[in-house]
Amino acid sequence: MHTSPRPADPTAVDAAAPASRARALTKVYGTGAAAVRALDAVDVDFASGAFTAIMGPSGSGKSTLMHLLAGLDDATSGTVHLGTTEITSLGDDALTRLRRDRIGFVFQSFNLLPMLTAEQNVLLPLDLAGRAPDRAWLDTLVATLGLQARMTHRPSELSGGQQQRVAIARALIAQPEVVFADEPTGNLDSRSGAEVLSFLRRSVRELGRTVIMVTHDPTAAAYADRVLLLADGRIAGDIADPSPESVLAGLEGLRVLEAPAGTPTGATPVVDVTAGGRR
Ligand SMILES: Nc1ncnc2c1ncn2[C@@H]1O[C@H](COP(=O)(O)OP(=O)(O)OP(=O)(O)O)[C@@H](O)[C@H]1O
Ligand SMILES: [Mg+2]
Repeated sequence: MHTSPRPADPTAVDAAAPASRARALTKVYGTGAAAVRALDAVDVDFASGAFTAIMGPSGSGKSTLMHLLAGLDDATSGTVHLGTTEITSLGDDALTRLRRDRIGFVFQSFNLLPMLTAEQNVLLPLDLAGRAPDRAWLDTLVATLGLQARMTHRPSELSGGQQQRVAIARALIAQPEVVFADEPTGNLDSRSGAEVLSFLRRSVRELGRTVIMVTHDPTAAAYADRVLLLADGRIAGDIADPSPESVLAGLEGLRVLEAPAGTPTGATPVVDVTAGGRR
């Protein structure tokens, strides 16, 4: 009999694997009396092909969670998977390659290189990986982001919204499995912010990407398919099909939960606010 070297039906498992997954994920900064438990045994799955926003008060662990999910920082304990790869057990070189080949990043501060044109900035991840650009995909990104007339400009010749759209094209050029965005609209006026958010949503709905975004803005979060609420390093709410109103209600719920003096930590109930229907 011919025996398969692989476990039974591995494809079924792979197809069901979330794009990103954390189990008992814990991050403690510092030691002794100065120790801060930034993440406390977080369990969460991020579905492939979905746009998720992470919200919560300042210091609740949003950036820490995103950095651990993206392999930018080490966990104290617990595991993170990207697809079926456990990234918490990878060495530095493998992690560097994984970030380069399988993850895209968008930061609040754009992080474009000033001496390079927009096109050179977009293609930089491929240059660093020694990969040839897929011209059709570049054209799709540039057209979808409305950057056709801007690709020979340097960042200083672009508006904030244009610079962030260039940063998004750079994050997507290598077709990463997951794009992580930490407050991508934090430095933008509301119109540019809306353009960037519309594009992130289109990149999920039309281009099949997976996006995980940290934001403070309920209107921005409402562009997502799901809003995850963090408080004190724990998951404190999970809102499907969010609207600005349901997100605000969820955030208000956190405030109410945090308000009473002497509330035992670890007893935070999970808020589950669901909006009526999809936009
Ligand atoms: N490098 C670090 N060293 C020590 N403590 C840290 C470090 N980074 C974060 N922290 C602490 O961990 C906690 C979570 O921080 P984190 O940056 O994840 O919060 P956040 O939810 O992203 O907040 P914000 O909305 O202000 O960006 C905070 O108490 C913070 O002070
Ligand atoms: Mg942060």
